[in-house]
Amino acid sequence: MKTRLDFQKMKENNEKITMVTAYDYPTAKLAQQAGIDMLLVGDSLGMVVLGYDSTIPVTVEDMIHHGKAVTRGGNETFVVVDMPFMTYHVSVEATIPQAKRIFQETGAQALKLEGADQVILDSIKALATGGIPVVGHLGLTPQSVHMLGGYKVQGKSEQTAKQLLEDARKVEAAGAIAVVLECVPKQLAALIAKAISIPVIGIGAGADVDGQVLVFHDISRYGVDRLPKFAVSYADLNETITNVFSTYRENVKNSIFPNDDQSFTMDEAVLPKLGERT
Ligand code: KIV
Repeated sequence: MKTRLDFQKMKENNEKITMVTAYDYPTAKLAQQAGIDMLLVGDSLGMVVLGYDSTIPVTVEDMIHHGKAVTRGGNETFVVVDMPFMTYHVSVEATIPQAKRIFQETGAQALKLEGADQVILDSIKALATGGIPVVGHLGLTPQSVHMLGGYKVQGKSEQTAKQLLEDARKVEAAGAIAVVLECVPKQLAALIAKAISIPVIGIGAGADVDGQVLVFHDISRYGVDRLPKFAVSYADLNETITNVFSTYRENVKNSIFPNDDQSFTMDEAVLPKLGERT
């Protein structure tokens, strides 16, 4: 399994880091087989798997349940699990037991925390000191969607760009092992990736960062109708899976399935005896 030191070396050697979300055993297993470097059990789980309209309803129990499945499927891959909404914002004392549970029960290699407020920086430091690697998340931080006023590109003005750069430096100084940078102009993302020494993994942050992360359901077009501007899809599972269901339905309705190959048999001489009254 790759470690944080390997990711650090990859940054230094200009080798791109690949990360994708996974929420269950088979997806994690297939991503691992494909050689993906890092799996993210994102709280995007809430939207793409559980059907909520934001990440806010996602709970610690949800993250643990899905995190466990992903570490089983991706047992040789570095797994990062999101801490969900409002589980790390009040105080370091309140954050630690939640982080401890998620980390111990899932068997993940790192946790991800959004933002760079002082409580979050202090939590990153405390978790790192306690042996829990933390990945930061800056730019568009979906758990704060209502404060940000929507899913918008971040850091376009001089002041917000400066703030993002400062936040990235603070997250690094607090002890984070990497930062996810979401929906940031590519020029600013490139500048941040150069300015800090830990890997910057972009999503909607252009190509000049140290790695990329995308949501599995976007890259495979699985259950999503519209892709965000920054995403790409390499398959259309919506079509493939709908065809599977339609074909199965038709075959059952028309008695094409099951055929003899898919049925069990017995010695038919036994049947009349079953009809006999004793
Ligand atoms: O929850 C998630 O999937 C994420 C990615 C968008 C980076 O945080």
